[in-house]
Amino acid sequence: MSYYKINNLEQYFKHYNKSIREPRKFWGKIAEENFVWYQAWDKVVDFNMGEADVKWFVNAKVNITKNCIDRHLAKRGEKTAIIFEPNDPNEETLHISYNDLYSRVAKMANVLREQGIKKGDRVCIYLPMIPELAVAILACARIGAIHSVIFAGFSASAVTSRINDCECKMVITSDGGFRGNKTVDLKGIIDEALEKCPTVEKVLVVKRTHTAVSMKEGRDYWLQPLLYDAIPNNVAEIMDAEDPLFILYTSGSTGKPKGMLHTTAGYMVQTAYTFKNIFNHEDNDVFWCTADIGWITGHSYILYGPLLNGATTVLFEGIPSYPDFGRFWEVIDKHQVTQFYTAPTAIRSLAKESDEWVDKYDLTSLKVIGSVGEPINEEAWHWYNDHVGKKKCPIVDTWWQTETGSIMISPVPFVTPTKPTYATLPLPGIQPVLMDELRNEIEGNQVVGSLCIKFPWPSMARTIWGDHQRYKDTYFSAFPGKYFTGDGALRDEVGYYRITGRVDDVVIVSGHNLGTAPIEDAINEHPAVAESAIVGFPHDIKGNALYGFIILKEIGEYRDRDNLTKEINEHVSSHIGPIAKLDKIQFVSGLPKTRSGKIMRRILRKIAEGDFSNFGDTSTLLNPEIVDEIKDNKI
Ligand code: WT7
Repeated sequence: MSYYKINNLEQYFKHYNKSIREPRKFWGKIAEENFVWYQAWDKVVDFNMGEADVKWFVNAKVNITKNCIDRHLAKRGEKTAIIFEPNDPNEETLHISYNDLYSRVAKMANVLREQGIKKGDRVCIYLPMIPELAVAILACARIGAIHSVIFAGFSASAVTSRINDCECKMVITSDGGFRGNKTVDLKGIIDEALEKCPTVEKVLVVKRTHTAVSMKEGRDYWLQPLLYDAIPNNVAEIMDAEDPLFILYTSGSTGKPKGMLHTTAGYMVQTAYTFKNIFNHEDNDVFWCTADIGWITGHSYILYGPLLNGATTVLFEGIPSYPDFGRFWEVIDKHQVTQFYTAPTAIRSLAKESDEWVDKYDLTSLKVIGSVGEPINEEAWHWYNDHVGKKKCPIVDTWWQTETGSIMISPVPFVTPTKPTYATLPLPGIQPVLMDELRNEIEGNQVVGSLCIKFPWPSMARTIWGDHQRYKDTYFSAFPGKYFTGDGALRDEVGYYRITGRVDDVVIVSGHNLGTAPIEDAINEHPAVAESAIVGFPHDIKGNALYGFIILKEIGEYRDRDNLTKEINEHVSSHIGPIAKLDKIQFVSGLPKTRSGKIMRRILRKIAEGDFSNFGDTSTLLNPEIVDEIKDNKI
């Protein structure tokens, strides 16, 4: 596979400039040279950004699983496609070859068809990180069913709303899941969720934990016996380039999650291309992305990206702290992992533990290490660089979103010099721009603005399932003709991008546009403060005022809360200006957070406004109990 492999910075700029001048030629050549198609496209791209209407590889015919599996069989049939590393280190690791993956997916595809699933039907997959999860996803893609994977940490009500939103006909789940020293009752959660899901006709259940579950007659079937009887061959469905591949829900600025719809060919082309170039993938590598397949990172970089490249990908069922804080490093050592891709929150939590956990394992197999999901702070970057990469593995700080489908801004390893906290340069084919408040494009370097993308890219989401207007309003209306990411960014003196955080968390106070993030940063510098979150609330004179929710460290000398409130405000004043002073400060023991560690500001905003009527879906929180505590102590 060629993929325009980038060997040095000069070549990067050459490819980049060419890709911008002639995007159709650029993506067309990648698509042509690296995949198998039933039929070629009439046009590389067709779009109207104002209407949020984008099509790639118009009228081409393809099946993504033919590209993920079948075409590798002749040369790499015996190569390991998936290494399954179980939660319990004493349970045996499973190596699934490409041949084996083919027959597993073919059997599963045949079972789905026998159970009445047809092209275009939605199938909800609610499974732990076990091989059946990968197989179920690929089997859906094989027959043209649209998979909607729901992260197996979501509660019954979150599952219900997602299943109903896209009217799933089937659910694939398991009796339970292992997580550290706990088991999770997945089937019980599905049973509860399905009480209010009229469209679901069948539930296929994988046996994993062997815990007792109730099986509803005529609805629930054990999967393994069905697979046992299935034929290990399957003719793939011929899909149009723009046929839906999957729906994946992401939270928005309202309580209702957005079902981002990704389609077939564009997603295939860009996930494969980015995997190859961002991770510098070579044939004998072992790639490990620690995300859950329930998130976009897992879809694109545990499954589709690696398999499209005929790679070996690790599927890890466990958690970083079980049986001890050395687990990640032990797995890297055990499987001689060459690329490791994780999140800043995981890095920070492991950096907090003794360095002995990481230093005692052999990590010399690593070549490239990556970060994704939020801005990586300087301290975490350096710890990752020193202790994991041993200062010889480039860190790829990859910026992208559920909506973008694959990586957009990132260093190319060994090509782009890295810079802590910077995602650096756009991938060839990607055209980021910074916009000012007057909706003008900001030219030049050493500037800050709202991050937009001004030309379509193949793996972008095409719509929000069932609500194209919301898709248009959310992403294509703030800056007409451009896709608005919701993030703010700065471009430094050499053109490197640093993502500074969401710009939709701005509050207008007395006509001044205040980002909450810099105020929080200032507050967090106060020695008594552990963490803070700022939101706006309506104010008669100022329009909006600021409300701060602050977690304190255990520091004895700061017992006097009134004094502390004053001190914090003085601190903010001196760092940002008197305009940024907080009208209200509430000391709290925790903040409502999503599982990926993001603060749910929507809930804090409601509390600050004094509106306790409807907090939306709080079931996706890591710590839902904190909401009542904050509410009850509101000032
Ligand atoms: C938001 C997207 C991309 C898959 C995982 C998250 C933030 C993501 C970075 C990064 C700074 C980042 C942005 C983005 N984000 N990667 N490398 N540096 N911020 O997907 O849940 O759709 O979240 O995560 O704010 O908009 P997501």
